[in-house]
Amino acid sequence: MQQSELDFINTLRQSSRYIEEHRGKTCVIYLPGTLLAAPDSLKQLGSDIGLLHHLGLKIVLVMGATQQIDSALNRAGVEWQTHRDVRITSIEMLDIFQQTIGQVRSQLEAVFSQASALLSNPVTIVSGNWVIAQPKGVIDGIDFQHTGKLRKIDHKGISACLDSGQIVLLTPLAYSLTGEVFNLNTLEQTCEVANALKADKLMIYAKPEQLQKLPKQMSIPELRQLIKQLEDSEQKHLLQQIDLSNQFIKRVHILDERDPSALLMELFSRDGCGTLIFSDRYHQLRPAHIEDVGGILELISPLEEQGVLVKRSRERLELEIENFLLLERDQTIIGCAAIYPHENNMGELACLAVHADYRGQELGEQLLKAIEVKALKQGIESLFLLTTHTHHWFIEHGFSLKTVEDLPSERQSLYNLKRQSKVLIKPLSTDN
Ligand SMILES: CC(C)(COP(=O)(O)OP(=O)(O)OC[C@H]1O[C@@H](n2cnc3c(N)ncnc32)[C@H](O)[C@@H]1OP(=O)(O)O)[C@@H](O)C(=O)NCCC(=O)NCCS
Repeated sequence: MQQSELDFINTLRQSSRYIEEHRGKTCVIYLPGTLLAAPDSLKQLGSDIGLLHHLGLKIVLVMGATQQIDSALNRAGVEWQTHRDVRITSIEMLDIFQQTIGQVRSQLEAVFSQASALLSNPVTIVSGNWVIAQPKGVIDGIDFQHTGKLRKIDHKGISACLDSGQIVLLTPLAYSLTGEVFNLNTLEQTCEVANALKADKLMIYAKPEQLQKLPKQMSIPELRQLIKQLEDSEQKHLLQQIDLSNQFIKRVHILDERDPSALLMELFSRDGCGTLIFSDRYHQLRPAHIEDVGGILELISPLEEQGVLVKRSRERLELEIENFLLLERDQTIIGCAAIYPHENNMGELACLAVHADYRGQELGEQLLKAIEVKALKQGIESLFLLTTHTHHWFIEHGFSLKTVEDLPSERQSLYNLKRQSKVLIKPLSTDN
């Protein structure tokens, strides 16, 4: 089989798990005007979102149109004012807003019709008055006029449309109960709608400068810590907005707006391509069970072949599975370690491994700490191990180089002289 065919099969295997996992899940996607302004990006988005819908995701789109509105106002020679970085929408500007947003919306609907032509079930996209607005009001003596803020969301109405198999589209325009038209901040609206729907995923296309230096993943406490460290910037505003309306959203993904395909990469590949902010645990450290044996073998076999780890058969792993702890991410085992009790209150740390793609994130250290806790619970007072490749790492983690004579006697008799492994020992303290 050729490499390209193998790559294809591997990709299919990897993504099929996510296809199953995402089916029936609610996904809210923020599409900024800049992304929709480029015809190629727009076309790509139409077909990718059509595909997501086809794969059973419930999709809500919230479109922005700032770039298009700026151009339309400039063309008409209309000047606008801002206060605290928010545009003041005068009654004279509303016509231009309605025309421009209507135009962007029809362009978006058109690409969905085009995408539908390639799918067995046509994609229907609907918009409506589910969002009720109210005036932003007068702040610092400045009247924001038709710039509004979100008052309430008919999330049941939106859910009914999603359940009937339609894609929901929200625009920056919303209406008050008195029938007035308001211009809303779309990012704010997106986050609040996602929260009201208790969305499984909120996908935000952001500017490259808003993505700068963001880690691949952050928990909510890490997000808050980062916000505290940042200077006032568009990146900080984005992260603050996410933090503000994130009570019920499970995962927020920030993607680069220059790459419309980031959506599929993020949803269907194990490592995604943007930044993930999670409120559920992303990787899980847990005891191993018998059904994990296949996953452990997959992780350690390459290391056994390189001679880094001693070979273990499936049968041996099955018998010793209770000694193992695992790190699991998206149903894939990405790390493992085991502890074997010996005489003299000593315990052997064995089979510590982290998948090559995930090294350097202190996962090895997390596993080691968890093994130490497990060992202490079993009354073990010191850990020992034999290694041929990794003694420096262990020395950096509190182990010292020792000799074969320092090992428990039954382990000394099994010492394989041919391997010439180094012996390392670490005393455990209860305040570890
Ligand atoms: C050893 C191992 C578990 C560390 O996992 P990890 O999640 O990358 O560990 P951490 O993130 O806590 O530590 C990473 C640091 O250890 C260093 N490191 C990794 N392997 C090392 C080795 N063999 N010798 C010395 N240092 C090593 C890395 O360079 C990195 O250093 P840096 O932070 O200065 O860049 C992982 O490298 C592994 O699975 N190795 C192969 C299996 C193995 O050797 N197991 C031990 C035999 S029992």
